[in-house]
Amino acid sequence: MKVLVAYETAHKSTAEVAEAIATTLREGGDEADVARCRELQSAEGYDACIIGSPVWAGNWLKPARAFVARNEQALAARPVAYFHMSGAAGIADERPEIVRIMNESLPEYAPSVKPVSIGAFGGVIDYDRYNFVLRMVMKSVVGRGGGPTSGRHDLRDWDEIREWTMEVQRLFREHD
Ligand SMILES: Cc1cc2nc3c(=O)[nH]c(=O)nc-3n(C[C@H](O)[C@H](O)[C@H](O)COP(=O)(O)O)c2cc1C
Repeated sequence: MKVLVAYETAHKSTAEVAEAIATTLREGGDEADVARCRELQSAEGYDACIIGSPVWAGNWLKPARAFVARNEQALAARPVAYFHMSGAAGIADERPEIVRIMNESLPEYAPSVKPVSIGAFGGVIDYDRYNFVLRMVMKSVVGRGGGPTSGRHDLRDWDEIREWTMEVQRLFREHD
């Protein structure tokens, strides 16, 4: 099976997750290409697609939303999985709420696409990489939830990402 792993990112950590997902797919016997949504025209030519983005204010980043919207027909015709990266998914108390929000909103981006799975993963919060405005926004939002307001916090659980990818690979094959 040839799988497209399409991602969007603002500060690079989701790109690393997309690469890790592709590595797991290859170890499981599939071909996998990784591409950034804003640089990708089409999902044609692939048997299945995994698409992911960080969450900003309860939404995927715009290039990821635009990619699934403009490829809705192609994606509806093949098995698809979505994933989202966020601060909230890496914090046990906040995780159920972000899962609920994204499980509701992601299918609305391209309503005829029915993802076989929606993965929710803790991402990276890195105040040193934010510009002044983002730093202020994040301090306020994360601080309100009791989270960190300075420094770098890598909340990615690579075992969880790997297990999810293996499960998605199994679901893609069932779909075939
Ligand atoms: C401007 C901004 C808004 C964000 N909004 C949210 C949010 O609403 N909920 C959340 O849980 N995480 C939020 N985050 C955290 C990011 O989703 C998280 O840091 C993600 O891993 C970043 O991925 P990237 O390094 O690929 O850009 C936000 C981050 C930034 C910079």
